[in-house]
Amino acid sequence: MLKIFDSHAHYDDESFNEDREQVIKELKENGIVGVLNCGASFEGARTSVALADKYDIFYAAVGIHPENALEFNQNVLEELRDMAKNKRVRAIGEIGLDYYYEENPPREVQKSVFRAQMKLAEELNLPVVIHDRDAHEDTLNILKEFPKVKGVLHCFSGSVEFARECLKLGYNIGFTGVVTFKNAKKLVEVAKEVPLDRMLVETDCPYMAPTPFRGKRNRSDYINYIIEKIAKIKAVSEEEISKATINNTKLMLKL
Ligand code: NI
Repeated sequence: MLKIFDSHAHYDDESFNEDREQVIKELKENGIVGVLNCGASFEGARTSVALADKYDIFYAAVGIHPENALEFNQNVLEELRDMAKNKRVRAIGEIGLDYYYEENPPREVQKSVFRAQMKLAEELNLPVVIHDRDAHEDTLNILKEFPKVKGVLHCFSGSVEFARECLKLGYNIGFTGVVTFKNAKKLVEVAKEVPLDRMLVETDCPYMAPTPFRGKRNRSDYINYIIEKIAKIKAVSEEEISKATINNTKLMLKL
């Protein structure tokens, strides 16, 4: 059985309310050695910490997602700082920029919330989990303002050139089920480019389930299909991808 570290999940999502306990029990039986549960809202951050306190394979990232940038304020920043004192909190995230939806918070608000949380990560010496959707240039510019901070570009969706820039800054590249999709040509090129020691695998569950579960609720054991695809792209064994991605995630989270 392949061992898997899911570097980005949302088991706090309501789609797991009915059977969360059972799913997590099965994950442990199915070779999942670690899960980084990422907060996307203030409430999500709190729940991520609670999950990490409850389950030994779980760790937490705390942060405010760009879609929720309007809920960020000084008080929230202090609460996040306080949550990060918990030893199970290993990263700040997910944070970043999302210009995809028209109704998302104004770009200037997103950028200032992103910068404030990058600064927090720098102060606390924690890695960051970056969400970037249709905002590659602004994301890169802000990452460059914090050269001491490292982390992962989660659910990477940029070009090979953009991946090179992120690698140069010391960031890892996170691959979801999208890499298994038929139309994932650009992402396959990115996977060819990213060295084995800088790749992470992730679900972003409940979303982004790989083929053959595309459109269904995602879960960490489906990462098998992502590893299978990346192993083919890199022409190495699945065990090698499993080992490298576990190692890279542990290194990033200082585990
Ligand atoms: Ni996410």
